[in-house]
Amino acid sequence: MSIEEKEVEQPIHGLSVREVTKDFHRTKRTKLAENLHFYQRLRQFFKREKETIRAVDNISLEVGIGEIYGILGANGSGKSTLIRCISTLLLPDAGSIHVFGDNVVTESLKVRQVMNRVSVEASFFKRLSSTENLIYAARLYGISAEAAEKKAREILERLGFNAARMDEEMENLSRGMQQKVAIARALLTSPMLLLLDEPTTGLDPKSKRDVQAFIEDIRRERHAVIVLTTHDMAEAERLCDKIAIIDKGRFIAEGTVQELIARVPSLNGAPATLEDVFIALTGKDIGDEEE
Ligand SMILES: Nc1ncnc2c1ncn2[C@@H]1O[C@H](COP(=O)(O)OP(=O)(O)OP(=O)(O)O)[C@@H](O)[C@H]1O
Ligand SMILES: [Mg+2]
Repeated sequence: MSIEEKEVEQPIHGLSVREVTKDFHRTKRTKLAENLHFYQRLRQFFKREKETIRAVDNISLEVGIGEIYGILGANGSGKSTLIRCISTLLLPDAGSIHVFGDNVVTESLKVRQVMNRVSVEASFFKRLSSTENLIYAARLYGISAEAAEKKAREILERLGFNAARMDEEMENLSRGMQQKVAIARALLTSPMLLLLDEPTTGLDPKSKRDVQAFIEDIRRERHAVIVLTTHDMAEAERLCDKIAIIDKGRFIAEGTVQELIARVPSLNGAPATLEDVFIALTGKDIGDEEE
């Protein structure tokens, strides 16, 4: 059977990730010997050992249309790397990823048209206002300037963005406000797959609630597939239909909040919380970084 025939046979899920692995190679940080001649040190510098970091290790997941799938993990556990593989920014070393039946590697252009990613490293034209940035982004997708401006202001308002500051240069805005503009930009074009990489990290409690309420609205209105990464247990509990706990690049547990909680015995008669589950399964607090 040819590869093409096999692809057609795949059931059309929203998002399907199968046994994906991603390695990074970097130079080992060894201290250079001090008593060597300059040229010897230079040679030693270029001959430093390489090491491989397995950022994503054999991960599989399925997300249906209308579902929010949460990935919960400490700093450096591999969340963003997985999201970047799904979003076609990185090529996986092994495994396959399909978005509505299309392979993200062989049909990346098609996949990019139906998906958007929000991450903390979003970049903007700093000297333009948030609405100008959003209009610019919408124009790239062929939306008229008028329609884009109306939609941009509407989305920003729903995110609790102060209307009086929508025409202010982006460089004057706080990080949290810029994060809201990044979220608005991802939603201008009605993506079918929305990848939210820590959408609420760094937001104040009110902004956090605004963004979370908006994500819930999106699920209700659009029947999109949403993948969300977070450090925030309450957020995962509130928003996600299914949660995976990631540790050192591996999924160590997956299920609904109830299913995950059922894996850990209750303490002193009180039911376990998602945080108890995280600590019991990973042996660490979510605030700890990976070594
Ligand atoms: N471009 C890169 N080159 C080398 N190593 C990388 C690269 N990107 C990520 N890594 C490494 O891969 C591992 C996973 O990083 P990743 O950014 O995916 O974690 P994360 O769960 O998103 O963390 P955070 O919560 O801090 O955003 C880390 O050890 C990181 O140092
Ligand atoms: Mg990250």
